[in-house]
Amino acid sequence: MCGIIGYAGHRPAVPVSLEGLRRLEYRGYDSAGVAFKLDGGLVVIKEKGKIAALEEALEEAGNFMNATAALAHTRWATHGVPNRPNAHPHLDQSGELAMVHNGIIENYTELKQEMLQKGISFYSETDSEVLVKLVGECMKESGSVEEALSKALSRAEGAYAVVLISNAHPGRLWAARKQSPLVLGLGTGENFLASDVPAFLPYTREVVFLDDGEMVVIDANSWKVMDAATLQAKEKKSQTITWDVQAAQKGGFKHFMLKEIMEQPKVVRDCLTGRIDQQKKTVKLPEIDGLPVPKRLVIVACGTSSYAGMWGKYIIEKMARVPVDVAIASEFRYADPILAEGDQVMAISQSGETADTLAGLRLAREHGIPVIGLCNVVGSSVARESDHVLYTQAGPEISVASTKAMCSQMVMLFLLGLSYAERKGLLSDEDRAAAVSGIQEIAGVLEQSLPAMRDTARHLARSYSSADNFLYLGRGPYCPLAMEGALKLKEISYIHAEGYAAGEMKHGPIALIDPRFPTFAIALADDLFSKVKSNLIEVKARGGKIIALTNAGPGLEVDHPWYLPQVWGPLGAFTVLPAVQLFAYEIADYLGKDVDQPRNLAKSVTVE
Ligand code: M6R
Repeated sequence: MCGIIGYAGHRPAVPVSLEGLRRLEYRGYDSAGVAFKLDGGLVVIKEKGKIAALEEALEEAGNFMNATAALAHTRWATHGVPNRPNAHPHLDQSGELAMVHNGIIENYTELKQEMLQKGISFYSETDSEVLVKLVGECMKESGSVEEALSKALSRAEGAYAVVLISNAHPGRLWAARKQSPLVLGLGTGENFLASDVPAFLPYTREVVFLDDGEMVVIDANSWKVMDAATLQAKEKKSQTITWDVQAAQKGGFKHFMLKEIMEQPKVVRDCLTGRIDQQKKTVKLPEIDGLPVPKRLVIVACGTSSYAGMWGKYIIEKMARVPVDVAIASEFRYADPILAEGDQVMAISQSGETADTLAGLRLAREHGIPVIGLCNVVGSSVARESDHVLYTQAGPEISVASTKAMCSQMVMLFLLGLSYAERKGLLSDEDRAAAVSGIQEIAGVLEQSLPAMRDTARHLARSYSSADNFLYLGRGPYCPLAMEGALKLKEISYIHAEGYAAGEMKHGPIALIDPRFPTFAIALADDLFSKVKSNLIEVKARGGKIIALTNAGPGLEVDHPWYLPQVWGPLGAFTVLPAVQLFAYEIADYLGKDVDQPRNLAKSVTVE
């Protein structure tokens, strides 16, 4: 997501901030900006594109070397296309405050409406500009910047890490966080604020990690953490970071893939932000409000995104009784597909740039079929060319192997199924409330279980890393998860793996089973559990070793049962997904493979 740095101290603040932004470049961004105070007032410079473009623009900004405090930002678009007006920092209505923001303000439309009625103008499409203008409004009745910030934040729903600079208080910065990372760096005669440690690591290793609901004010020689609601001072202990810059960019994890797997609780939360009406327990997908429930939904995607689509098929058909076909984009584009009135096409793509998926999208539009893009990168080709766009909120995915993107796509497909079911009147109030609570509980369940899952994966990887082949089995909604597990294993460890519908095994793959050909089964306690159990007995009878993901308690005759937590109904896939990802990751790492950059693969496949 967005990168933030704030600096107050004895060095020239603007170059230090820009250098900090460069160390956050690995997070991905589409625009960059900086704010600082000169004699004439606050200066805000921002540009679409790379930091070099910002530096060029700065050349014309007078003597920025005199600024002693600055804040800077790299934007990964979530609201509004990547362009200069949407880039941060944003100014309040008086021009006295400038702010950078990382996160999503859920109720920004309501807040904006309120301020528009007061005659306040907006220059961007962002939720972030709404927030700084709200602080500006609160300044009118507050005695201090911290009081105004506190009041504004009490009205903001959603996630944020913000840093604020005021023209009236040179050399000082304010910051606060809720559900978005923010860390304070403590130097001698200088202090830093950043979304991520690498931003200031060359200057200090002494850090204070801020917690949700905390606010901090810094200048060159002091820092004070407060409760953001009450403004009561809080005791915080600093700690010393031992990571180098590279490790810090990966959040202390060895690889981006591991970091991205472990980020999935946050991804689920971010995807749900603003999507649920808490009172009514209904789903909000305003981007497709104008579209009727389709007679048939055709999902077009490649690789991991297509497996998310296959999982979505089970969910949408089961909950909403809307027929869903899933087409691999490279086949769809040349298949002369039959598309009829009432059909809608959904193009799923993390990058939004996959050539085959784009070709499928264009073909559908040539047939006059409405296209919904489900993608992660704002302003990407899929987003621009679709009639309607649903953005996933996975944040930049750096590892070539896709992990958290699939999780985010699954959240959105679940919400889509739920919203179709609501619109068709198929759900009782109780069922709808159960489904909504079910998905809302996933982030917490994952947060608790991911560390233990990783230990299990590491332990199993040692025992199974010498296998040359693997069979992944699952039934119903877990069949696409079996395929995804196999894809992850082959793409990063180069071990051959097949994902199969467990019931199909006896029609061919069973011939392969022997003591050197292990099976990775998904055997969760659903209505197909007894069928999967029988399939596994057939594997055992042929001497095959079995790892089985299950939440069914003891009773499975397998070599390594891997117990997963209980979650609501069909959402078990959210616990299976990180398990198969971690298993592939741990094997590849154990074998010393280049986990983040596997051979022959590209992150974004922009050619046929
Ligand atoms: O960016 P997209 O979601 O369109 O990418 C689709 C596939 O290229 C991608 O999922 C690929 O299969 C990954 N390497 C899987 O980890």
